[in-house]
Amino acid sequence: MSDSFYPGTFICIEGIDGSGKTTHARALVKRLCSLGYDAVYTTEPTRYSIPGRKLRESFFAPERLPVEEEFRLFLEDRIIHLKDEVIPQLEDNKIIITDRYYFSSVAYQGSRGLDWKYILEENLKVALVPDLVIILDIPVKVAIERIASDRTEGVNTFEKEESLQKVREIYMLLADEYPNLIHLRNTNKTIEEVNDELLEHLQNFLRQKS
Ligand code: TYD
Repeated sequence: MSDSFYPGTFICIEGIDGSGKTTHARALVKRLCSLGYDAVYTTEPTRYSIPGRKLRESFFAPERLPVEEEFRLFLEDRIIHLKDEVIPQLEDNKIIITDRYYFSSVAYQGSRGLDWKYILEENLKVALVPDLVIILDIPVKVAIERIASDRTEGVNTFEKEESLQKVREIYMLLADEYPNLIHLRNTNKTIEEVNDELLEHLQNFLRQKS
């Protein structure tokens, strides 16, 4: 399934906003390192590339970028992320845990009306297929509650709920389509319980791979 011919292991964590992927990705890197693995955390959109910075600025703009432009910027940023961070570290035999990858483009830009199969095809022309994808799944209502309690300004519940629902549906379609690549995980438990389960899954995966 994976086309990674590098010595390292490329894992990405996906999920709707509020699913806890950043918390889990960071905790997994820390725990893997303390077990003696050489693991690193990376994220998309990057904070250093020109397209990545444009995208991050656009998150706070009153109007969203047109979806086609947004999609292209994510793709450009991804190519830079791969070239500067992912590939050199895979060559160095590291375990990379990436917080969002092209599955986010498929789900998010797909939720804005761009054909998700087209998004996937365009990404597969330039992006490395990871060794494993973990999609953290959570009911949209729970995700919204978490986002609202984390932020002082709150969320536009109606808009958020509707669009996150679409994002979640596309993630589900992807998980059905790629059962060997994608591991779907319900995160509606305590952070510790979910993280323990994820760590166990990763360790089994790493043992099988080596
Ligand atoms: P997020 O991981 O929530 O950001 P942060 O690390 O700052 O908490 O990602 C920011 C947003 O980017 C998120 O709402 C999803 C969106 N996104 C896309 O729409 N397409 C993509 O390809 C990627 C990588 C992210």
